Amino acid sequence: MNYCHIQKLFLCFFLLMFLFSSGQQGGVKASSAHHRHGSSPVYSFRPTKLFVLGDSYSDTGNRRKSELNSWKYPFGITFPGKPTGRFSDGRVLTDYIAKFVGLRSPLPYQWRKVGASAKLVKYGMNLAHGGTGVFNTVFLGPNMTIQIDFLERLTNKYSVYTTRDLQSSIALVTVAGNDYLTYISRNGSAQGFPSLISSVVNQLTSNLKRIHKLGVKKIALTAIEPFGCLPWFTTKTSFKHCNETLNKLISLHNDLLHQAVAKLNNETHDSPFTILDLYASFTTVFKNKGDPLRGIKFENPLKPCCVGISSAYSCASVDQNGVKKYTLCDDRQSTFFWDAVHPSQEGWRSVFSALQPTLEQIFYA
Ligand SMILES: *[C@@H]1O[C@H](CO)[C@@H](O)[C@H](O)[C@H]1NC(C)=O
Ligand SMILES: *[C@@H]1O[C@H](CO)[C@@H](O)[C@H](O)[C@H]1NC(C)=O
Ligand SMILES: *[C@@H]1O[C@H](CO)[C@@H](O)[C@H](O)[C@H]1NC(C)=O
Ligand SMILES: *[C@@H]1O[C@H](CO)[C@@H](O)[C@H](O)[C@H]1NC(C)=O
Repeated sequence: MNYCHIQKLFLCFFLLMFLFSSGQQGGVKASSAHHRHGSSPVYSFRPTKLFVLGDSYSDTGNRRKSELNSWKYPFGITFPGKPTGRFSDGRVLTDYIAKFVGLRSPLPYQWRKVGASAKLVKYGMNLAHGGTGVFNTVFLGPNMTIQIDFLERLTNKYSVYTTRDLQSSIALVTVAGNDYLTYISRNGSAQGFPSLISSVVNQLTSNLKRIHKLGVKKIALTAIEPFGCLPWFTTKTSFKHCNETLNKLISLHNDLLHQAVAKLNNETHDSPFTILDLYASFTTVFKNKGDPLRGIKFENPLKPCCVGISSAYSCASVDQNGVKKYTLCDDRQSTFFWDAVHPSQEGWRSVFSALQPTLEQIFYA
């Protein structure tokens, strides 16, 4: 494993490149297999609310209908049968985590004042916004700082939540890499990448401190998935090969994040922060071509169900004559990815299964 200090980032980056080019494995942390048999779990901490911040990996409907494609057919066809603003054919990570802790999947922020929805505010809230990053991105939408501002205002200004509410709550924070997609789409240089990574991790670290300061008891945040394996990048190879250059860069983000979180936990008495390692869990699922224990099988885990015809990201788009600019697979349960960047419901189910030992450590006695 590589332990780099942010100050020595550049040196470290080249060291990493050397290690990788000499064939060592990095960035994938094995999760301790810890299986629980039989009856209902004994919770060591049972949250009453779930707050969610981040991007499309956790958004359950905050993006406006006129913006990205998440409100168009065929998004949502598996669950609940129509688009809900989730970036998937069905459930996303948030839904699985909420179920795991025994809560309803929290209400998207944009519906907080709408009709009967307002009653659901007491179960927590989802402030995540598809396409966003730690900084502003090409996909627009409120960055994470603004999302935390929203949460802060709900508590301090509008008294929707009390500090006690927050103290019995958990937060899920997802960062899937929109800051890096933005940099790449603006043709940012390879040399500039490591310094961007260090800025993203530094800003993210301050964000985490702020969320904790609001009183949130446990904060689970995602490490970035193997970025170079997203269909967005593998389309060039007909979904056969991951872009290893990008995977190595993203491992640098993840290594810095692990260090930053270890430091934060050391500075606080009850170790509130936990990393949900999407790099390791995606990799495990790819390697096993699914999750044999749960009967999940992906023939080619890199190939998405909804494939854009002219561009990688045209799932759900149609031309002026209504002709589809994408193709859809026949069996949605057999693809890990839904579209160019998002797992399908079955994909998330397999990832959740791989994350379960980590979640048990947070919540079970
Ligand atoms: C977040 O967005 C606001 C509004 O665009 C901007 O002023 C602020 O600088 C952004 N924060 C970060 C950390 O990029
Ligand atoms: C990035 O490079 C591509 C190919 O060279 C070019 O088509 C595109 O306009 C560039 N984008 C930006 C934002 O400079
Ligand atoms: C990997 O991705 C980077 C950034 O998009 C690109 O410059 C490079 O050519 C890709 N490598 C391969 C082998 O496709
Ligand atoms: C934790 O913090 C203490 C001082 O507050 C320091 O001596 C120790 O090295 C730190 N441990 C780690 C693992 O960072």
